[in-house]
Amino acid sequence: MKKLSSEDLRNIWKNFWENGEKDHKYLKYSSLIPDSKDKTVLFNTAGMQQLVSYLLGKPHPLGNRLYNIQKSLRTGDIDEVGDERHLTFFEMFGNWSLGDFFKKESLTWSVEFLNKEIGISIEKIGATIFAGDETLGIGEDIEARKILNEIGIPNSRIKAIGMEDNFRGPAGELGPCGPCSEFFVDRGEEWGKNNWDMGENDRFIEVWNNVFMEFYKNEDGTFSKLKQKNVDTGMGLERLAMILQNKQTVFETDLFEFIMISLQNFVGKKYAPFQKHENEFDQQEKNDTRHFRIIADHIRTAIFMIGDGVIASNDGRGYVLRRLIRRFYYSLISLNENIKLDDFINDLVNKVNQKYGTYYIEISNGVNNIISSILNEIYQFQKTINNGIREFEKIVKEIKNSDNPNRNYLTGEEAFKLYDTYGLPVDMIEELAFQTGFSEKGLNPVSFIEFEKAMEKAREKSRKSSKDMFKRGIDWAKYLDGISPTEFVGYENLELEGIKILKDFEVNGQRVIIFDKTPFYAESGGQTSDIGILEFDDNNVLNIYEVQNYSGVFLHFIK
Ligand code: ALA
Repeated sequence: MKKLSSEDLRNIWKNFWENGEKDHKYLKYSSLIPDSKDKTVLFNTAGMQQLVSYLLGKPHPLGNRLYNIQKSLRTGDIDEVGDERHLTFFEMFGNWSLGDFFKKESLTWSVEFLNKEIGISIEKIGATIFAGDETLGIGEDIEARKILNEIGIPNSRIKAIGMEDNFRGPAGELGPCGPCSEFFVDRGEEWGKNNWDMGENDRFIEVWNNVFMEFYKNEDGTFSKLKQKNVDTGMGLERLAMILQNKQTVFETDLFEFIMISLQNFVGKKYAPFQKHENEFDQQEKNDTRHFRIIADHIRTAIFMIGDGVIASNDGRGYVLRRLIRRFYYSLISLNENIKLDDFINDLVNKVNQKYGTYYIEISNGVNNIISSILNEIYQFQKTINNGIREFEKIVKEIKNSDNPNRNYLTGEEAFKLYDTYGLPVDMIEELAFQTGFSEKGLNPVSFIEFEKAMEKAREKSRKSSKDMFKRGIDWAKYLDGISPTEFVGYENLELEGIKILKDFEVNGQRVIIFDKTPFYAESGGQTSDIGILEFDDNNVLNIYEVQNYSGVFLHFIK
């Protein structure tokens, strides 16, 4: 296997698709924020999202063979980040056929890339095929099996898998989709037992997904056949780098290594990645390793989000950013409470810019804004932490004074309130409870289940968050075009003078005003919004009875 840097990989990818018979055109990556017409997801989770209308048949101005590298963000597993596998942000290599070539070319070229271009020997490549599904009316993908056999992948390295894993649904609830074949790479004996069962483990890594998009998922859950047969592929750069640089996790590749080095210098601890010898690590060292990874993942994601215009808030995308920065900060102070925060954030953002800014101009253009946004959000969080800790202490006191003063855990509901309303990261709640002398991790098994249930509800809420933008049956996005997010100054001020009205409008008889700044807290996470008055220079007074936050823009409802 060749040893290739992330930069080598990007270049090889580009040359591979542009030259010769492949004749693909470069499609510029899109922002992490989906097109305003796409109401199905909060963030772009794959390269195909900007292509939906073309997958449905609209001719693309660049032709019908495209490739790119797409910034992607998946937020379903934020709390899992810190282990060996999960990431929130990643760069996705993708190529597409919009009604042009199909399975034969796609599978052949994928193997050609893996084998000839980046040097993975053919014996180390395996693949899955679709096992078939009755509701779709299709059987096992024998065509894919035959093609794979012909290009050197025998049945012993092919596994048929059904809808659960080998059917790539649309990014949101409806849209183009189809069965897929996923390529796996065997990293060799040093990484574990020989077993081509296509499960996730250290030795066999799933690298590339070829989706054969022939279907459309309708709102009612049924599928229709698309007008044309498309191919949509996606391969994470981070995983590829991990394999080609022979690292245990993505965090040791050149895409993260520089972050770890800066972090080590600032916190005065060493990142100890090699968990193959896990028993040699004590609990503290394992926790530290987790914190290092959380910091590296979350800061990179936050930088890309802010570069694309996301502003921390209590709703939608801004809420995701807020959670990431809070979790990042908690991990940071867990490694070293006395970290020189301003210097560290400056250093880190500049280093991420050095590494990524050439490819992603929105990072290099936004360095100062990114630094100040992260720092401001952390300063704000420092105040929140104090409120959260006070609430925690209140809960502990209530327990001590209750009928059951020996209770040594938080209930799921109490923990969730600290998480959702007070914004404390889960790790921090566990740590606080543990330090108070509560049982292991501060939650008992029942609490964990309750907490998980509440979390699942919250996740559901965040999944639906883009739908929430239509609260009251109104498509607010339509009214908010060109309006900048509102600056929230409610932590410092309860009253504010000299604010500017950006928009004053009526929807279905309801008057709504948007200001440049506001001291009014918007409704979020079960907490009601502030109420108050708006006084004009001529002493005219209006009542503000509710405030909602739609992607960072605060809507003041006037009575
Ligand atoms: N869109 C496909 C995926 O996300 C390639 O796996």
